[in-house]
Amino acid sequence: MKIAFTTSEAYPFAKTGGLADVSNALPVALARRGHDVRIIMPRYYMVDRERYGLRVIGGPLGVPLGGGEKWAAVLESRHIPEVPVYFIEHDLYFGRDGLYDDGHSAYADNAERFIFFCRGALQALKDTGFVPDIIHCNDWQTGLIPVYHKTLYKEDRFFGGSATVMTVHNAGYQGVFPAEHYHLTQLDPGLFTDDGLAFFNQMNFLKGGLLYADAVTTVSRKYAAELGTPEFGYDLADVFQKVKDRFHGITNGVDYSKWNPESDPFIPARYSREKIDGKRACREALQQRMGIEIDPTAPLAGSISRVTYQKGMDVLADALRPLLADENLQFVLLGQGEEWILDRFRELKRLFPGRVGIFRGYDEGLSHLMEAGLDLYLMPSRYEPCGLNQMYSMRYGTIPIVRATGGLDDTVLEWDDKSLRGNGFKFAELTEKALYEKIRYAIRCFYTTRSWKKLQKNAMEFRYSWSDTAVEYEKMYEAVYAAAATRDEHGVPEKSRSRPDRAKGRRKPKP
Ligand code: ADP
Ligand code: GLC
Repeated sequence: MKIAFTTSEAYPFAKTGGLADVSNALPVALARRGHDVRIIMPRYYMVDRERYGLRVIGGPLGVPLGGGEKWAAVLESRHIPEVPVYFIEHDLYFGRDGLYDDGHSAYADNAERFIFFCRGALQALKDTGFVPDIIHCNDWQTGLIPVYHKTLYKEDRFFGGSATVMTVHNAGYQGVFPAEHYHLTQLDPGLFTDDGLAFFNQMNFLKGGLLYADAVTTVSRKYAAELGTPEFGYDLADVFQKVKDRFHGITNGVDYSKWNPESDPFIPARYSREKIDGKRACREALQQRMGIEIDPTAPLAGSISRVTYQKGMDVLADALRPLLADENLQFVLLGQGEEWILDRFRELKRLFPGRVGIFRGYDEGLSHLMEAGLDLYLMPSRYEPCGLNQMYSMRYGTIPIVRATGGLDDTVLEWDDKSLRGNGFKFAELTEKALYEKIRYAIRCFYTTRSWKKLQKNAMEFRYSWSDTAVEYEKMYEAVYAAAATRDEHGVPEKSRSRPDRAKGRRKPKP
């Protein structure tokens, strides 16, 4: 199939979180199964022309916006051998240091930037002549694409046979903006109702995507179930309920070509399930890098995380305080985010010198060293659509301690020291007490060398591979594509939806 994968971030070009990892690994896994996949994303300032071999394709790209038209360029990179990446370049919107914010607050023109991107992505497809069977949209930044597809582009023969899929990676971010930006979309004002794009008198990008996409997915089965409840779906819970017949949970995988202690270029010693000795050198390198004591016996716990309320990091800091007092524990944090939470960790560092290390910022290499050097990975999320680090940790023999929510619940199996089964630890309620007790129990297990070795072995054996996940996406795409071919409720009669000439990839006039 021909798949246009639209996203606001993809590794290695631009990354703030797991969406970037997925936006690389899933397209590659699909391409390896024989599909023709193109990634479409904004060209941010950090996407270096030379490094990624960007070259302009086609002429200037006209993107209708508000009362006029903005001009952009489409650049192509073949840096990912299996998947061409098309970047929409517009310096005013994307030539900035951050993706969504300046490090403190969200850009004031995010509505305009991503309205432009949604419209630009569809225009770029037409301009490049890539006729998609599936347009796969990811998170709110692409939420208007399904809306455009079913409205302004509904009579456009170029998209006549294509279907849209909306994947929710995080319903905590919905793209909610004041109604005054709505005119920029050029959508019919009649769609701005409570049954449509309006959301408490504001516009909601994600809601648009959910209502208009042919299929909706999220990144784990458990989160799919959770989203229908107000606790997790927030004020969109009823919309998730409404689309439940076309809503699927497909759990993310791991790109084992990048996250593998046997071949990881970022770590000082390689190791495997059979020969795990190298982990000790990684541990020592991590202790050194984080400026804590080189202690070979103390259990070393840590997190790599956006330091936000979602991740439960505030409760973690509170639970660590008595734990560090009661146990010979070490803790290291790699993250950036909300200062009020980071302050609590800084306080721990002050109280327990030599035992707490903090790296505030973003560092891809250090994140790999963390996975390899830690004994315990802490992920006490309030909610977690999927979560990747718990799965990365397992591959490195680092045992995850997670809250039983979303994808964490789907991927971590509680360790049972009788049957010697399981790959990590889980707790249900996000309280300081529950977290304290679970970490304490894990530390007890850590000191029981034989069963700890078995637990590590179990964790390292688990595989959540993208090649399996890609098969699930493929099945869903096929079903959605077949259903789109017979659909008529959007006013496109079957006969008139003949496909444009795919083989020649001819350019089509703009709508
Ligand atoms: P989320 O997308 O909600 O942040 P995930 O677990 O899905 O959570 O993915 C997070 C990804 O971002 C992982 O690849 C993780 O290693 C990476 N990451 C998060 N914070 C940092 C950081 N400060 N430095 C390097 N990598 C980070
Ligand atoms: C989001 C979620 C995270 C998920 C990632 C990739 O950022 O918070 O749980 O793993 O997207 O799907």
